[in-house]
Amino acid sequence: MSRRQGIVAAVAVVVALALLAAWQFGVFGGSKAPGKAPPVVPAIAEVPPGYVGSAACRDCHAQEYQRWQGSQHAVAMQVADERTCSATSRA
Ligand code: HEC
Repeated sequence: MSRRQGIVAAVAVVVALALLAAWQFGVFGGSKAPGKAPPVVPAIAEVPPGYVGSAACRDCHAQEYQRWQGSQHAVAMQVADERTCSATSRA
């Protein structure tokens, strides 16, 4: 083996060891153990998202709910129709 061939062989061995080490540390993304599932998101995602309504807050926030009921904020988001619009608000 010539001196040049020896250097090429040494470089090849170093590169091979580096690639092996990179593979071991998961650099290529393929080192997951088989059968290991990703963590499952908790069950809260099973409830479909949607508007729960103000009554959902009453049990825990009774005092705030009472005060809110007596304020104009409680009617601020009502749909405007014959029932919710008073005569004085019609121009
Ligand atoms: C199961 C009980 C529970 C329900 C139902 C609940 N809350 Fe709360 N809420 C709490 C608790 C406990 C706190 C924390 C209170 C504290 O830190 O002093 C809180 C805090 C809050 C705060 C912050 C208050 C502050 O001073 O920072 C708001 C705003 C709030 N809730 C709104 C709501 C709304 C709106 C609903 C209904 C859609 C609701 N909550 C339903 C228990 C509840």
